[in-house]
Amino acid sequence: MPPRERDFLDLARRALDRREILLQDPATTCARLCHGRADQLPGVFVDRYAQGLTLILHLGTPGLPSDPRPQPLAEAFLRAAEPLGAAAIYYKPFVRDRSALGGRLDRVLSDPQPLVGQSLPEAITVLEHAVPFEVRLYDGFSTGLFLDQRENRRAVADLARPDRGARVLNLFCYTAGFSVASARAGAITTSVDVSARTLDWARRNFALSALDPGRHFFARMGSMEFLALAARKGHRFDLVILDPPTFGAADKRRAVAPWSAERDYPALVRAAAAVLDPEGLRLLFCSTNTRSLCEPGALRRLLRGTLGPAAEFEPLPEAPADFPPGEPSASWALARVATRSELPTI
Ligand SMILES: C[S@@+](CC[C@H](N)C(=O)[O-])C[C@H]1O[C@@H](n2cnc3c(N)ncnc32)[C@H](O)[C@@H]1O
Repeated sequence: MPPRERDFLDLARRALDRREILLQDPATTCARLCHGRADQLPGVFVDRYAQGLTLILHLGTPGLPSDPRPQPLAEAFLRAAEPLGAAAIYYKPFVRDRSALGGRLDRVLSDPQPLVGQSLPEAITVLEHAVPFEVRLYDGFSTGLFLDQRENRRAVADLARPDRGARVLNLFCYTAGFSVASARAGAITTSVDVSARTLDWARRNFALSALDPGRHFFARMGSMEFLALAARKGHRFDLVILDPPTFGAADKRRAVAPWSAERDYPALVRAAAAVLDPEGLRLLFCSTNTRSLCEPGALRRLLRGTLGPAAEFEPLPEAPADFPPGEPSASWALARVATRSELPTI
């Protein structure tokens, strides 16, 4: 039975109570406050970014009314999060096929006026393990930081840390969260994305951490195309981060091929393995939120099939406490790649 509106405030408070330890940490001001079914609210996801909240409704989720009223949910979560300084909640309706909605829902994603509360600045700064990041709460569906990767960003930075000057390549980098975390740990980073806008955002994230931009590289290119170029030029890396979207559009002008995770992930892994320095860390961090690749064991099978039996899986943190199991989310794995002579031939 779907939860009743009069229970929303109680459910919101209980969801926040479950995350009390995280929410009390002044070094991390962004976290998921509600994770759907796991918090007894199917299809309802609430994220906190310092003084701003986002309410994501996965329209069409069983247990969520077909035309849900976001207002009462928004009011309940804003009230529950007021002690944390929350002042606004923005609405982010999510549907698999946005084209069916003729832009109606997309307008709300760029409205500076929140659903409830006072309008916030376009860009706000949040902290994640004391690392500042710029987020934008009314700039489309995504905000600039995928919160479920919090512990992975820290784990990747920790892998780079002991080897001062480790060369980290971050493909499909978006706002370069993994690069910033690694760069702060002493790595020399290269961040690759097709979008000039997100690369500018990435540079602003570097600036927020007062990182020397002269020590880091940004490439506006397709990831596969970058790997082909790096292989030709003999560029080598210690750690490569692969966290691609499910689909990416082609860009003919820049010779970027269309990307499909289901089709292209094995080729991406193979090409990334080829630019690892055999004398270096030889690490591939792989992540996906593509549904079929998130099936239990699917990503590891893909890696094993591509990298061969000599690749070793290394531990990564469990899903963070604010993303309790029960909702499909992302899947990730860390592989230490065998030396070139042990790689399967194709
Ligand atoms: C889901 S985000 C990746 C998340 C990111 N790894 C992070 O840690 O926040 C997808 C990104 O891939 C970029 N992208 C899409 N197709 C691409 C391609 N063929 N090559 C490089 N970047 C691409 C998009 O511009 C977008 O910034």
